[in-house]
Amino acid sequence: MFNGENEPLAAQTNPFLQRYTPPTIDGNFTGKHIITVDQFERKDLQILFDAATSIRKRIRQSDRGLTEVCDGKVMASLFFEASTRTDMSFQAAMRRLGGEVIAASNGVQFSSVYKGENLADTVRAAGCYADVIVLRHPQLGSSYEAAYYIDKLNQRIKNPSVIISGGDGIGEHPTQALLDMYTIYDQKKGFDGLTITMVGDLRNGRTVHSLAKLTALYEPHGMRLCFVSPQSLKMPSSTITLLTSKGITVFETSDLLEVLGQSDVIYWTRVQEERFENPTDYAAIKDDFIMTPSVMAHARPDAILMHPLPRKNEMGTRDDHDILDEDPRAVYFEQMENGMFIRMALLAKVLRGVYV
Ligand code: ASP
Ligand code: CP
Repeated sequence: MFNGENEPLAAQTNPFLQRYTPPTIDGNFTGKHIITVDQFERKDLQILFDAATSIRKRIRQSDRGLTEVCDGKVMASLFFEASTRTDMSFQAAMRRLGGEVIAASNGVQFSSVYKGENLADTVRAAGCYADVIVLRHPQLGSSYEAAYYIDKLNQRIKNPSVIISGGDGIGEHPTQALLDMYTIYDQKKGFDGLTITMVGDLRNGRTVHSLAKLTALYEPHGMRLCFVSPQSLKMPSSTITLLTSKGITVFETSDLLEVLGQSDVIYWTRVQEERFENPTDYAAIKDDFIMTPSVMAHARPDAILMHPLPRKNEMGTRDDHDILDEDPRAVYFEQMENGMFIRMALLAKVLRGVYV
């Protein structure tokens, strides 16, 4: 599978990618599954950015009124893969909006998945009890499959529910891309003329797949995307084709220093070890791009350093982490916090259609 071909998404298929078409948002989020960034237009992002900014302000003012927004609503947290930020920020978001959160008591591995229950039945069980289901699953297209079966369930039961993807294998991580775009918007005050450089495992990293597609919404504004990766971990060619068709200037390289000093946004990523079939393939490239304080010295003084996290050796040692964390250009903690604000905005709009 890891043969150096620049097309990982073709290597895995899921019939539900064809069988289910996610709805476009078109300014109205209410009751819609959130499966892919393809559902969004620029105006939809602006709605979320404005709501997230308002929510952030209200939280900082300890405004208790937010707890009325999702009062009486229930979110099911269904994580078939490890998560710290996505899971906890969604839970925190729901609780801060006054909603409740349910999950299998001992994690999904001790739900009836343990007895061999399939995804379609597991999500429909959650759909019988919850208004919104946040799903992370290792299989590409799993969120499409979940939405397909939830739509069928919704025809039979009185209380419909929606799926929000928290990541489908090597496919997409749409809510991460929303919070990443919000962080860029917040830090850089817009997207005009930015050079955004994504580094690392662009082949298997679902965050960069979604983020790259969302940036394309902001043309024509002279944006430039640089993709830096080992040859075997390049951005899928389908994504490159899409970006260039939208007028985005794309530059691919394995030489970080060729682009680092020109970058306004440096988006660092982890090599996705869990996606490798052969550990020696992972070992061969895991150290190709390591962000350290001395690498960061080549970046512009006004650049920002982002990372979806978790981080491992691609950000050097613990000492390197500690030094980078003190660099004002490192915004990954702000990025992480923004995740909760954006997810609050999204839950409010999907569940209530309200503009908080
Ligand atoms: N947390 C992100 C994801 O789940 C990035 C990563 O795991 O490297 O896709
Ligand atoms: N960024 C992100 O998705 O982090 P987790 O894998 O910890 O949820």
